[in-house]
Amino acid sequence: MTTTGARLPPHIARILVDPAAYADARIHETYRWLREHQPLGLAEPAGYDPFWVVTRYADLLHVSRNNDLFHNGDRAPVIVDKASDDLIRAMTGGSPHLIRTLIHLDAADHSKARTLAQMWFMPANLKKMEDRIRELARATVDRMLSRDGRCDFVNDVALHYPLRVVMKTLGMPEADELLMLKLTQEIFSPLDPDLAPKLGNDGAVAVLAQAFQSTVQVFGEYFGKLSAERRANPRDDIISLIANARIDGKPLPPEVEMGYYIVIAAAGHDTTSSSTAGAVWALCERPDQFAKLKQSPALISSMVDEAIRWTTPVKTFMRTATADTEVGGQHIAKGDWLMLCYASANRDESVFKRPYEFRVDRSGPTRHIAFGFGAHVCLGQHLARLEMRLLFEELLTRIKSISLDGTPTMTQAMFVNGPKTLPVRFELG
Ligand code: HEM
Repeated sequence: MTTTGARLPPHIARILVDPAAYADARIHETYRWLREHQPLGLAEPAGYDPFWVVTRYADLLHVSRNNDLFHNGDRAPVIVDKASDDLIRAMTGGSPHLIRTLIHLDAADHSKARTLAQMWFMPANLKKMEDRIRELARATVDRMLSRDGRCDFVNDVALHYPLRVVMKTLGMPEADELLMLKLTQEIFSPLDPDLAPKLGNDGAVAVLAQAFQSTVQVFGEYFGKLSAERRANPRDDIISLIANARIDGKPLPPEVEMGYYIVIAAAGHDTTSSSTAGAVWALCERPDQFAKLKQSPALISSMVDEAIRWTTPVKTFMRTATADTEVGGQHIAKGDWLMLCYASANRDESVFKRPYEFRVDRSGPTRHIAFGFGAHVCLGQHLARLEMRLLFEELLTRIKSISLDGTPTMTQAMFVNGPKTLPVRFELG
């Protein structure tokens, strides 16, 4: 690792690993500073292995699309502190992974596993589910509107709807909704004092590893039972598809099979609820944009993409260089760890016109990168867009206005984050 002139100031490096900074304006201020002054700097915060911080759109695209040069699975693909990494390796006999989801796989292992469900998530197949998802959207809006003109949009609406969609997709019983909600929150927000109170945010050693291990174990037991059921009696759902799938003529290794279910259940839910709530928050603060949407419902699709750019719920993923190379003018050595900062790339002034404005009719030559890019690009991106569009089509025809009814809060997390509470007041019509 050549570090001359590349080291980030310690206070900047610290912010990148401070979950609380992701819940207020500090992370975006930091990203803005980085893009301008050190778009590819080396962070060396105490307690973490050093990592490069990729903040510009072009560099993030370059790393994401060169999947042979930048692997997901050689080290942890999400940011973890050194103590957690050490503990995970001790638990697994040297592997940096407690689970093997699509996110953790590379090269042929990844493409063979991803192909199994890829067609299922393509728009042509999703079209067949549209009516069923619209029913869920309508029922969600019915419940919200029965609440006397006020609700907490996150806890009453946004957390439940994408979870119901994803549970239907996977083929999970509705009765397990609250269990799934708890497990996904624990996996994504192990450092948030409200969402994972048993662990806290006191800098306890290896807190991430402990949180992950217990959650993954419960997930594993849960999906193990469902998978056995679907092997015996297959249905038209993803658990049946994966439980009965073959790679090179053999069933999936158990840890890859479990990883498949976990990544779809977890990634398919928290991300979409964050973007949905982020859209409502943005519209509450911008009555002109709300009015524009009411006037031209055809803009709902572009508003959905703008909301996904605006919130960019997946804040970071990590990659590991497989050979010496160069990114953004910096020498990167084989084995170096890189943090991809999606929310920074999506505010890159050299790519997006007025990136700090939320515009329901945003158009332009470049698409946001909130779903990633390359071999690992989000498998559920079409589903996420579809379910958000349907919810907003149902909601916007039935309300006249919506505004904040208190101060919203954000989750404290460095991996996936978004609104935690969003008190709103609305008028029917
Ligand atoms: C707004 C909502 C969503 C956002 C912002 C989002 C974002 C992302 C990102 C950034 C990645 C990694 C991409 C990369 O490394 O290049 C990813 C991967 C993935 N996402 Fe999503 N996601 C969303 C919704 C969903 C949904 C609804 C599902 C499924 C039901 C889903 C399933 C997955 C899976 C399985 C992967 C792993 C793909 C692979 O490694 O090959 N996501 N997502």
